Amino acid sequence: MPKFVITGGNKLSGKIAVGGAKNAALKIIPATILSEETITINNIPDIEDIGKSFDLLKDLGAEITRNGSSATISTKNINKIELSPKLADKFRTSVMFVGPLLARFGEVKFPHPGGCVIGAGSRPIDLFLEGFKFFGATVEEENGKYYHVKAKKLKPADYFFSTVSVTVTESLMMTACLIPGKSTLRNCAMEPEIEALADYLNTQGAKITGAGTPTITIEGAEKITAGTFDIIPDRIETGSFAIMAAVTGSEIKITSCNPEHIMSLLVIFDKIGVKYERGTDWLLMKPSKNIQSRDIKTHEYPGFPTDLQSPYVVLMTQAQGNSLIQETIYDRRLIWTDMLSQMGANIIMCDPHRVVITGPTKLAAKRLISPDIRAGIALVIAALIAEGTTEIDNIYQIDRGYEKLDERLIKLGADIKRVD
Ligand code: EPU
Repeated sequence: MPKFVITGGNKLSGKIAVGGAKNAALKIIPATILSEETITINNIPDIEDIGKSFDLLKDLGAEITRNGSSATISTKNINKIELSPKLADKFRTSVMFVGPLLARFGEVKFPHPGGCVIGAGSRPIDLFLEGFKFFGATVEEENGKYYHVKAKKLKPADYFFSTVSVTVTESLMMTACLIPGKSTLRNCAMEPEIEALADYLNTQGAKITGAGTPTITIEGAEKITAGTFDIIPDRIETGSFAIMAAVTGSEIKITSCNPEHIMSLLVIFDKIGVKYERGTDWLLMKPSKNIQSRDIKTHEYPGFPTDLQSPYVVLMTQAQGNSLIQETIYDRRLIWTDMLSQMGANIIMCDPHRVVITGPTKLAAKRLISPDIRAGIALVIAALIAEGTTEIDNIYQIDRGYEKLDERLIKLGADIKRVD
């Protein structure tokens, strides 16, 4: 298993370009099932979960031609309604294939999806199933491990989300696209990736209004055509690199990004003394001294993203004073902070959803294991300032979210090696 070996202490400098958003790409790939025409997707990040998504689509019978960060996809000849358990139970977003398959074929069989362990149990899919039932589908379950969802004829629905969910909002939005009549989704997630998906589907014949707000209405279209989808910049990569610059006291220009999508982080930077300049598609991080502590509470977009909580925790270990970090989205997303404590950080876990950090503290190198994508990048950031040489194992979990991270950080001057 490859690992990262990182020697801390180097100042970083230069430019780093942000890639296409993982969490947008992972939805547009299954969305291609809604159309029988050929679609071209640009700016696809070259990361693990995308490869798995393409494998799953291919296994269903789609033809895919990849050319660098672009792909041309035809799902015309899809001839299967069953997601291969071997492929689908390896990643959570395999569940995103269910809505489009149900909309096009009226039936889907699939296993409980896999993925990183950050939520309750093996991360539930109850809301997906509940939503499909609202559209008139029946769901047969085998021990919560295998599902068969089908409908003779789907009907429009008025559905209120009891829990705000990004992927379920996207999934039901895609399903409703081809159901004749008007569907309304209420208390929806508002992430930019949802709006991007709706914008694309609308240019291809869908009639979706309100994506990016809590209420989305969808008038069923007869068919979805297909064109070109340019994946929006990854806002979590943008925020992770910005925090990396702040923690290491470096001047870094982050390009090909959309700073508007990380306003919840930038307003905190303003309050805690992290200096930066920004344009429409760039962020220039300036070296900052005497960064102050500040509490955060993760929240659905446009609030502070749970996916930036872990890098922010590292920043707070270097800030002056106490900060309270509250994780409200996932049950197990603060457990990794134990590794930062082992590196010398002063962190008290109040309960699984809250930690108090007192900074600043020096960090020392350790042997670490990356538990999930976002804790993984946080450990990399911590290693960049730790005294000594840190080894991070299980970097598969980092590669799932950040394309060729080591190569990009070496260009900024980091001492990071990928060792097999
Ligand atoms: N939930 C349920 N039942 C469901 C689905 C979700 O109870 O059927 C719960 C989850 O357990 C969680 C809450 O709802 O407690 C919210 O989770 P949500 O469904 O919004 O998360 P998601 O859609 O599975 C997406 C991103 C996550 C990101 C969250 C929150 C994708 C592929 N994933 O997940 O990204 O953390 O929204 O913003 O879009 C990551 O990139 O590292 C990542 C985990």
